[in-house]
Amino acid sequence: MAVVRIPDENRALSDPAAITTYLAGIGIDYERWEPAHAIGPDAAPEEILTAYSPEIEKLKQRGGYVTADVIDVSPQTPNLETMLAKFNREHWHDEDEVRFIICGRGLFHIHPRQGPVTVIEVEAGDLIRVPRGTWHWFDLCADRRIRAIRLFQDSSGWTPRYTESGVDRSYQPVCLGPSYFPPPTAVTRS
Ligand SMILES: [Fe+2]
Repeated sequence: MAVVRIPDENRALSDPAAITTYLAGIGIDYERWEPAHAIGPDAAPEEILTAYSPEIEKLKQRGGYVTADVIDVSPQTPNLETMLAKFNREHWHDEDEVRFIICGRGLFHIHPRQGPVTVIEVEAGDLIRVPRGTWHWFDLCADRRIRAIRLFQDSSGWTPRYTESGVDRSYQPVCLGPSYFPPPTAVTRS
């Protein structure tokens, strides 16, 4: 289950219904899908897509998504910090950002046009849709591990467009999840 925080109001939400309602209020679709399929920690992307094909098909029909892939990030991922630096600054996309988390954790910061920045710490079983045009940024937790199914309406629309607002620099990417890791000292932020 995700943990939702509103740092500027010093609030945290952990009740599932409260989280879904709050996120819907800022335009974010959130659902909890228990990972129904046994996937080994080293399962190949094809294996994951096959196991989750019923869920993927359901999402495709619902949101007009045409393709799905698996993003698999670990501390061993080549050029990891360079990759993360593309997404940890406030940006938006011309298409929805849809993620179903298979394992690991991550932090979405959502910056509604009106209302305070909201932090969503996602974990396995969380399905999140950040609609096109939403200002947001993403960080991994300190263990640098996430594996997620991504869905695309048109992969060309997925280029980050930066706001250059600098708002992201006011928020520390700290995860509170069950296995808390202190944030690394050398987080790349430009
Ligand atoms: Fe994004």
